[in-house]
Amino acid sequence: MAYCILMTDLDFFAVCPPGLEPQLAQECAALGFKRGKPEPGGITLKGDWAEVWRANLELRGATRILVRLGSFPAFHLAQLDKRAHKFPWRTTLEPHVPVRVEVSTNKKSRIYHAGAAAERIERAVNTVMDAPISPEAEVTIKARIDNNLVTISVDTSGESLHKRGHKIATGKAPIRETLASLLLRGCGYDGRETVVDPMCGSGTFLLEAAEIAADLQPGRDRAFAFEKLATFDPDAFATLVRSGSGPVPAQRFYGYDRDQGAIDGARRNAEAAGVGDLCSFACQPLSELTAPDGPPGLVILNPPYGARIGNKGQLYALYGTLGRVMVERFRGWRLGIVTSDGALANATGFDLTSGPVIDNGGIKVKLYQASLTPP
Ligand SMILES: C[S@@+](CC[C@H](N)C(=O)[O-])C[C@H]1O[C@@H](n2cnc3c(N)ncnc32)[C@H](O)[C@@H]1O
Repeated sequence: MAYCILMTDLDFFAVCPPGLEPQLAQECAALGFKRGKPEPGGITLKGDWAEVWRANLELRGATRILVRLGSFPAFHLAQLDKRAHKFPWRTTLEPHVPVRVEVSTNKKSRIYHAGAAAERIERAVNTVMDAPISPEAEVTIKARIDNNLVTISVDTSGESLHKRGHKIATGKAPIRETLASLLLRGCGYDGRETVVDPMCGSGTFLLEAAEIAADLQPGRDRAFAFEKLATFDPDAFATLVRSGSGPVPAQRFYGYDRDQGAIDGARRNAEAAGVGDLCSFACQPLSELTAPDGPPGLVILNPPYGARIGNKGQLYALYGTLGRVMVERFRGWRLGIVTSDGALANATGFDLTSGPVIDNGGIKVKLYQASLTPP
């Protein structure tokens, strides 16, 4: 039985929300990752384990990083059982460390029962590695059975990478950090301009924008599942983690919300992330928003869109106010609105361009953009 094992030149996959692959591909290229190839739901990359650790540590847009360990054909469960027992788990897994197994299969495969397939793989890992199988395990093995080919991957991230490890307050309907960073990129933000979020909630867009400007590594404050693998070298990983930020950015990041609790939370989050000095927050309704001094930059926000919070009728008026405030006070700025409702976006009165449909925690949203006429 010939296993296809990829250990020296690893094939790894940076997962992102479908629709945002081009932005993640751009980020991978900017960070110097080798041969990034967009596929539905992410980017395939190549490199050694140090590159896998760096992807977890540095990619803002990736939800998780999966390393492909190998593949083998299996046409029925007994064959899967036998071949899973022969799979070289020891090269990657650490003995006795708890493991979780997730299987997906499709109609092109004779093994169609994902639960039964997971049970065979769990038994193999348990026997070979003497590893307990637990739904709470930090290490997850993912097996995809496609056209009778079983591809085994390990999730090297653990908790989703949108959890940066320093958010204290989450607010009402926060956008995920990973998504926020890709949407900032989608708006052309490159870390050099002023960013304003007039409905900032917990401050996600501003924190991401400020961290990008300060050249901070998004994963600097968290742990990863790869630390539990046999391939982990703590000393080598330590050389990848930068302490502190780069040069202090010249621009500032402004967050407003009409909810004082949200503003208090955003401020605490910014302090915890180490970008408190770069951000300025104030409790203020949208109608009172004014542009900060200095050159035009980016206004980005996800206003309430009715699906989770807010009342539809009043929302049209709110989006209308956004349009008026932008036209009157933000000449020359760019605007990015994330919403689930194109009719609400159009209530701004702008001729907006829209991006692909993106999943934001179960709600389908789009990024709508406008460039406001220069003064
Ligand atoms: C969907 S949440 C934004 C979430 C935010 N992006 C985050 O990541 O936490 C919308 C926010 O708009 C605020 N909001 C609603 N109406 C407002 C208004 N008229 N002026 C200012 N803020 C408003 C709400 O208090 C809420 O925090």
